[in-house]
Amino acid sequence: MTSSIDIERLLAPRVLEIETSGIRRAWALAANCVDPINLSIGQPDFPVPDELKAAAIAAIRNDHNGYTQTNGDAELLASIEKKLTKDVGWSFEEGSGLSAMVTSGTAGALTLACLAILGPGDEIIIPDPYFVIYPTLARIAEGKAVLCHTYPDFRMTADRIEPLITLKTKAVLLNSPGNPTGAVLLREEVQAVAKLCRERGILLITDEIYDEFIFPPTVHASPASYSKDVLVIRGYSKTHGCTGWRLGYAAGPSRLIDEMSKLKQQTFVCAPSALQKAVVDAHEIDLTPMLNKFTERRNMVVDYLGDVTELTKPDGSFFAFPRVPAHLGLSGSEFIAKAIEKDVLVIQGSVFSARDTHFRISFAAPDDQLEKGLSILRSLL
Ligand SMILES: Cc1ncc(COP(=O)(O)O)c(C=O)c1O
Repeated sequence: MTSSIDIERLLAPRVLEIETSGIRRAWALAANCVDPINLSIGQPDFPVPDELKAAAIAAIRNDHNGYTQTNGDAELLASIEKKLTKDVGWSFEEGSGLSAMVTSGTAGALTLACLAILGPGDEIIIPDPYFVIYPTLARIAEGKAVLCHTYPDFRMTADRIEPLITLKTKAVLLNSPGNPTGAVLLREEVQAVAKLCRERGILLITDEIYDEFIFPPTVHASPASYSKDVLVIRGYSKTHGCTGWRLGYAAGPSRLIDEMSKLKQQTFVCAPSALQKAVVDAHEIDLTPMLNKFTERRNMVVDYLGDVTELTKPDGSFFAFPRVPAHLGLSGSEFIAKAIEKDVLVIQGSVFSARDTHFRISFAAPDDQLEKGLSILRSLL
């Protein structure tokens, strides 16, 4: 049966203005590939660790299947607080002014944060290149994403942020390690951004979903180590290969967490309860073997592409964002169309940026596929 009402007329600008076509365009081009080498997916290629699978099954069997407290399962919250105390030195004792909450993925935390702080005309400064949902979330909250140009080194430093601050700026959003660039900010850089935000009375939101994907000798630095006026957002999707479990967390000033919690109560309600139980001990799992594998893959990307294009060596995440060499005379979109003709699926930079000069490679792909894909990209470049 076809719809008899004019749905088009009913749709709100907030959905009509969302640009979904970029990645779809790339995938549509790949529809005719017989056996595509897929270097486009932002999802780990390793399975959920067995301990977590077993804990999920046990939690379901033990009847942890109902709603949890809005802020999250008490055991999981305790584990998150312990992890943050270890990583950034925060105390969550009564009176500390800091709280944590479990969210429906990192995306859920980002959504709640934007809804809690942005109103019509309010601005949030985000990196360019950015993770695709950042501008959309600002739009959904009726605010505006202001792009902080970070080319060519992809460092969102205090010097680059400061000129963008206006009376309407409510927040700065950092993402280190970054998607799509793999750039990782240094301690002094995050410290300077934290200082700037504090001085200007602006909330600093730090999306640290790739906090464990850091290639030695680089270390992860969180601005939360230097300021308590920071909203830390992290998740389990990438670190523990469970993107479909929809589990993340946010921690920061209690006043803000309380408001995010109110919004959560009336929308997402809670993250899947059995799966919250499943990740209680996730932070105890040694991720070194996974990290070694991803370090090797990062090295493979640099070996294949480092001398044929301008490539900022990724120090974290599992993405690389090379520039299409000027002598080819191609935009990012034109280049990825050529790559797809050769069965390699990568994503044009314009999906993540106001510019269309680069392309994103995900190296969360099996080694043989990655090697094959990189060799084809090398010959094209
Ligand atoms: C930078 C960044 N933030 C947040 C997310 C959302 O992750 P999730 O909602 O699965 O935790 C992603 C996923 O690709 C990401 O790359």
